[in-house]
Amino acid sequence: MRLFMNYLLAIESSCDDFAAAILNSDGVVVSQFVQSQLIHNEYGGVVPELASREHLASIDRVVMTCFHEAGLTPRDIDAVAVTHGPGLIGSLLVGTQFAKGFAIAQNLPLVGVHHVEGHLLAGLGEPDFLQFPFIGLIVSGGHTGLYLVEETHITQLSETRDDAAGEAFDKAAKMLGFGYPGGPIIDRLAEQGDASRFDFPIALRSWQTLEFSFSGVKTAFRKEVQNLSQHGPLAEQDVADLCASLRKAVVEALLDKAILACRTKQIPRLLLGGGVACNRLLRKEAQERALVQDIALYLTPPKWCTDNAAMIGKAALRRMKMPDFLLAPLTVSARAEISHS
Ligand code: KG4
Ligand code: ZN
Repeated sequence: MRLFMNYLLAIESSCDDFAAAILNSDGVVVSQFVQSQLIHNEYGGVVPELASREHLASIDRVVMTCFHEAGLTPRDIDAVAVTHGPGLIGSLLVGTQFAKGFAIAQNLPLVGVHHVEGHLLAGLGEPDFLQFPFIGLIVSGGHTGLYLVEETHITQLSETRDDAAGEAFDKAAKMLGFGYPGGPIIDRLAEQGDASRFDFPIALRSWQTLEFSFSGVKTAFRKEVQNLSQHGPLAEQDVADLCASLRKAVVEALLDKAILACRTKQIPRLLLGGGVACNRLLRKEAQERALVQDIALYLTPPKWCTDNAAMIGKAALRRMKMPDFLLAPLTVSARAEISHS
């Protein structure tokens, strides 16, 4: 087994994107490619069986594109990193089996990375990345939770009791007849809307808990859509106002709890990551609130918010530098559910 480290190949396939990246030993992304799947658009959400089949069809092209862009060959790689969970089991299996096969064929170490750890460390190496420890808010289609991120350890502080915030946006978009993913569509339409028109509920707001809940706002949204649709198709302004009001309720729920976590843990450093962290209002409000609360804020750059393999590579490289890190090439297996210790 070669341990001298020049380049690492990272693979991420936990949901509906197949992504590969090559990083050098300093964590610099030499090349990266994400293959998104349009096939789910017509279903208004990810169809797991279709996702894994599409991954199988994408692997060669995505990985070869990375090698081509980096001007490297498989023989230049010294380690492989892969998301081993959580996620859709069929999708994870495609990525982990490919990564294992590559590692075995080239006699390389393989590192299994938790998907959320990747999101939390996606901005690592950027000049304005936060000092450890910090509080991380990860918001995506599959996850909504708060994390305490320390130098050598990540602890989950809370999660959603029901839907993830991105899932609420995706389902709301589906109710309006839009495709998947709905979050960016809602975000765009909300820009023209009046956020004060509908008073959607913000769950658990007055409670001291750090947990989230988005099923109530989703139901309230559905009722309002049904109510307005009684008189015919929704007017453009109605749609915009619905989107703006929903976006405001979700953003406030997220930031209330993130700031509560910073206060209760007495850690004035907050990171936002995951696909929903691309949301324009979330980014703007987070900046405003962080300023008032004297919290150092790191907004993961939008291109690293949605699923990508560079974040998996960064998390793996960091792990490999830890003194107690053990190489375990063949013990890595896909797990649909996997928690932080
Ligand atoms: O992190 P990600 O790529 O995949 C998961 O790990 O789930 O996040 C995808 C989610 C989708 O639910 C998508 O609708 C949401 O992120 N999303 C957004 C925005 N861009 C992506 N939600 C709200 N506003 C956006 N601008
Ligand atoms: Zn993700």
